[in-house]
Amino acid sequence: MKKLLTLFLLLGRSVMAVDLKEHAAAHPSGAAAYSFDMAAYREDTRHLPIGVFDSGIGGLTVLEAILSLDVFHNDSLKPGADGKPDFAGERFIYFGDQANMPYGNYSSVGRTDYLRELIVKDAIFLLGRRWFDPISGSFRQDKPPVKAIVIACNTATAYGIEDIRTALKHWGLPVIVVGVVEAGARGVQEAHGEGAVGVLATVGTCASGAYPRAIGQTLGLAGRSIPAVTQQGSANLAGVIEGDPAFKESVAERCGLDARALVTAHLQSGANAPLSTIVLGCTHFPLAQTEIDSAFVKLRSEAAFEGLIAPTLSYVNPAEWTARELFRALASAKLRNHQAQNNAKDSFYISIPNPIRKDLPITAEGALDKVFKYGRLPGDLQREDTVNVPMTPERIPMTTRKLIETKLPQVWQRLGR
Ligand code: DGL
Repeated sequence: MKKLLTLFLLLGRSVMAVDLKEHAAAHPSGAAAYSFDMAAYREDTRHLPIGVFDSGIGGLTVLEAILSLDVFHNDSLKPGADGKPDFAGERFIYFGDQANMPYGNYSSVGRTDYLRELIVKDAIFLLGRRWFDPISGSFRQDKPPVKAIVIACNTATAYGIEDIRTALKHWGLPVIVVGVVEAGARGVQEAHGEGAVGVLATVGTCASGAYPRAIGQTLGLAGRSIPAVTQQGSANLAGVIEGDPAFKESVAERCGLDARALVTAHLQSGANAPLSTIVLGCTHFPLAQTEIDSAFVKLRSEAAFEGLIAPTLSYVNPAEWTARELFRALASAKLRNHQAQNNAKDSFYISIPNPIRKDLPITAEGALDKVFKYGRLPGDLQREDTVNVPMTPERIPMTTRKLIETKLPQVWQRLGR
């Protein structure tokens, strides 16, 4: 009887669940939650900013790669540096879904359905004008929409890029979408020679199989032989790199453990080619490339791993390839903005638990309670658990701020503007 009742409730829920595509289409003015002003896309979108989103602040590494890119001639569009940043005329809107992260852990609790909804909500936020002003305690409608969406998060790309593309098609929008996983696979195509590929990513990204799939497709389409791919998901490394006090280990220690787990998995897979290319398949990992490389150097001398790690390793940072992909996509759609607008500023947003809601379980640090966060079901678009507010310095933990200041100088400068 109890089982029947549960089944009935679940069925009832899925019938009632509202699809985000339909919901946004039914609210074309963009005033409602999870909707956007569709009329904005009837005009020329070239002058609109580029949207970049991640589960948190890690995606700022991708923004840094975009802001630093100079591998094309800005006028002729031909490959080759010209001394000018390739995105010199563009402005950016960054969004980090800090209140709902880590995205990498939704798969292990069986909640990828909710994660997929979060990812489409992130895209809708970038497309729309609506944001929450914590000073007045009300929503405002003056954020510019975006002409392109960069999914800077590996986990979000793995689980949500197809949903975002399907939704944009449904809405008939000419918005470009670029994701780090496809771009990372293109990086493997360029960097990889002989041997096997190792992927270090979140547990969720690895569980999705997105990297092995994308690498196989990309190399296969290029007529190349498809290498063995071994993955290792890390539940901790992103947090350790950010300096999250919940983790007691150092970056070097954690890299040592994760590199060892990857090589062990490679050994157990029976693959006989040594690992020769390592994909840094999580936004944070390029920040720890030195520690990751030192870990592999140490492991190479262990007898148990003999012949499993190539004498030199190539590293693929998907952020760099995403920046190139974005340039090409904007150029071929003739959506590049050539004219830097002096008064046009970038904007940075972050999500926080909805301060209007008094029923939310909140921790002492002001975050959503973990059990609540990972227990939610998709389809309830009436209640906003989180709202998106400007990313002011006091909303970024001190350790993260230091990381941005020291490792992401372009972003740091734009944040201060
Ligand atoms: N940004 C995520 C990624 O690249 C890492 C952090 C998270 O799990 O949310 O996969």
